[in-house]
Amino acid sequence: MTNGKLNVAVIGSGGREHAIVRKLKSCAGAASVTAIPGNGGIARDVKCVDIDPLDVSAVVRCCMDAKIDYVVVTPDDPLALGMVDALCEAGIRAFGPVKAAAQLESSKIFAKNLMKKYGIPTAEYETFTDSTAAFNFVRKSFASGEKALVVKADGLALGKGVTICMSLAEAESAVRAAMDEKCFGKSGERIVIEEYLTGPEVSVLSFCSGGVVVPMVSSMDHKRALDNDEGPNTGGMGCIAPNPFYTPEIAEICMKRIFIPTIEAVKKEAAPFTGCLYFGLMLTEAGPKVIEYNCRFGDPETQVVLPLLESDLLSIMLACTNGALTPEMVRFGPGAAACVVAASGGYPAMYRKGFRISGIDATESAGAIQVYCAGVKRDGDSLVTSGGRVLCVSAAAANLEQALKTAYRGIANIRFENMRFRTDIGKLALSAVKK
Ligand code: AMP
Ligand code: GLY
Repeated sequence: MTNGKLNVAVIGSGGREHAIVRKLKSCAGAASVTAIPGNGGIARDVKCVDIDPLDVSAVVRCCMDAKIDYVVVTPDDPLALGMVDALCEAGIRAFGPVKAAAQLESSKIFAKNLMKKYGIPTAEYETFTDSTAAFNFVRKSFASGEKALVVKADGLALGKGVTICMSLAEAESAVRAAMDEKCFGKSGERIVIEEYLTGPEVSVLSFCSGGVVVPMVSSMDHKRALDNDEGPNTGGMGCIAPNPFYTPEIAEICMKRIFIPTIEAVKKEAAPFTGCLYFGLMLTEAGPKVIEYNCRFGDPETQVVLPLLESDLLSIMLACTNGALTPEMVRFGPGAAACVVAASGGYPAMYRKGFRISGIDATESAGAIQVYCAGVKRDGDSLVTSGGRVLCVSAAAANLEQALKTAYRGIANIRFENMRFRTDIGKLALSAVKK
């Protein structure tokens, strides 16, 4: 603590963490912000300490040595490993759920069974622990007229554990890959097979504390690698906020039937949820249904949600940790935001790294644009690519059309070899806005 202000650390190394770090830096209550491990781009804003975020005891030790007062734990793996529990045991306050509550994301079977028990709307499903029963189930389903099924690994799988299967052959191959070939390691030893749902998707991140859930502005991710939602699933290629399909009426239904029941259920079944709970929803003809829970801020959702946040992020996070969260604390501006991810050619499959990145400063100096770095590392005086999703160009404006124009104008200044980005981020949302 320095002059009553807090030394804050953010665990993680992506574009999401860059957005959180920048927002926290602007908060009056923050004396310093440190990223663990951060990346070469984040290091231009704050101090980065190169420690593996999966090494829980090393992170705790580092925070104690650096006299960190408050830790924001963002990625799924450290949460599932009990990072928040370990920090609390060491007497360091943290933002994020304890391990038991993080099961909402780290086990799809836990999440599905919880939704079933508490009547929270989601896709119909069965769970399997052996492949013979799973093969029999998919064969029977397609024989009785099912047109599609979704096969999901139970555990964390770097966003690759979900396969949409439009034929029996695809479903059999997804079951084989997860259970017999162990493509996702232990995470695929148990699987969920569920009903295929259709409708616009919405991400709703929410601040949670005990029984209180305060949703942030809604957003829409673009998960497929290529334009027109083609190609394989990725971590997310771009995002817009607010999501025009998420009307106030739908928001009210979600609060009553999904958000509050989830928070109450997880408290009863595991532990009170403190932190950011991400509701991945599909707006089906039968109403909104939960596709997935994430126990953390989304990436790239955060890169469009936080630029619209008008209230003080650190105060909100502390209120979550202290059990003092109220809806009045969380205020968003009236405009819109859009972000476009610049990826390495080949991502999400094989890609090359180490290419020099240029144009970040020119892009940001144009104003109203933020460049959030993800797969970026320092090489001498330069920044070079070091991951699949390299950086994310984000813009806030009075409306979605303007935000998209600005983000695309910004990304046009960024250069690195084999750079690729989607050219249709926000197209579907714009068509809904214009209706
Ligand atoms: P997840 O990894 O759980 O975020 O799932 C990745 C993507 O798969 C989601 O964003 C959806 O687009 C799709 N998906 C997951 N579950 C279903 C489902 N039951 N029906 C249709 N699409 C789904
Ligand atoms: N954008 C999807 C996620 O953060 O999981």
